[in-house]
Amino acid sequence: MNDVRRATLPALAKINLDLRVIGKREDGYHELRTIFQTISLADSIGLSFQAARRTSIALDDPLAIPDNLVERAARLALDEMRVAGHVEILLKKRIPIGAGLGGGSSDAAAILLAMPVLAGREIALPRLIDLAAQLGSDVPFFLLGGRVAAIGRGTELFPLPDLPAQFGVLAAPGVHVSTAEAYRALGQRLTNALHLNKIGSFQSQLWGQGSAGSGVNDFEAVVFETHPQLKSIKTKLMKAGASPALMTGSGSAVFGLFPNRGAVASAVELLGGPGFARLYKISLVSRVRYRSLWRRALHEHLDGRTWPPQSRYSR
Ligand code: C5P
Repeated sequence: MNDVRRATLPALAKINLDLRVIGKREDGYHELRTIFQTISLADSIGLSFQAARRTSIALDDPLAIPDNLVERAARLALDEMRVAGHVEILLKKRIPIGAGLGGGSSDAAAILLAMPVLAGREIALPRLIDLAAQLGSDVPFFLLGGRVAAIGRGTELFPLPDLPAQFGVLAAPGVHVSTAEAYRALGQRLTNALHLNKIGSFQSQLWGQGSAGSGVNDFEAVVFETHPQLKSIKTKLMKAGASPALMTGSGSAVFGLFPNRGAVASAVELLGGPGFARLYKISLVSRVRYRSLWRRALHEHLDGRTWPPQSRYSR
């Protein structure tokens, strides 16, 4: 099989509908309770694969992101399948970087999902999740998409039922927040007394939920201190009627969700203005929709294979 196989992959951004940092673990990571949700803002990735005797990877990344995870993802997938080939990756970035939207993680997960299909091999879902976790704590989520609860480092995943359609405004103020530093700053404030309380309220958030509701993000306390303009975005979104209005990940993007597009338009008007954050209109992307976007992207190469990759638990 020496023909070139090509696909254009969707790599959607995520928001955290809830994010609680419980405490520092022995492996240096922090124990989390979070709810991930895919949204309509997305990068697009051109990927091609041609079997060859030695592996070579050509990455066209207009932003020249240092240490781009997509290249590591391609190598990991090829090594896992014991396949060699020439890989070309063309990244079209739309998701702001360093904003808590998981853009780099989503790009990497997209490569992990697509490489086996283009190479005509399979990697079972549990193994794909292991490989994804080697690339970063947010990467495994993007193998599933939709709404997913995550615990541990953020890599132990529990798919949740999709929410009804919701629309939102995402404000990306161009402030780059270092995730590692945000964890360090927050970690210093965590006490044992807080743990049980946080776990309890996260559980009630999950049990009580048919809406995006009243999530919290523990990082707001530390990140808003250094970047007060993010807090004022949140306040404006709340005034516009957003529920919830939250920072995503360790920042710096802040989103607000609304039940209809009319409310989104009014919020954009309220937030808009020169010199302010870049604004995006977004909608939540359900797991059903996520899978259909992926199926469409790969359909000419699927040849009757099972898609998406399965866990034996989900059969
Ligand atoms: O896993 P990832 O490489 O995305 O994490 C970036 C940094 O964020 C880690 O080096 C670590 O400092 C911090 N982190 C953490 N606990 C997590 C996830 C990330 O402390 N659950």
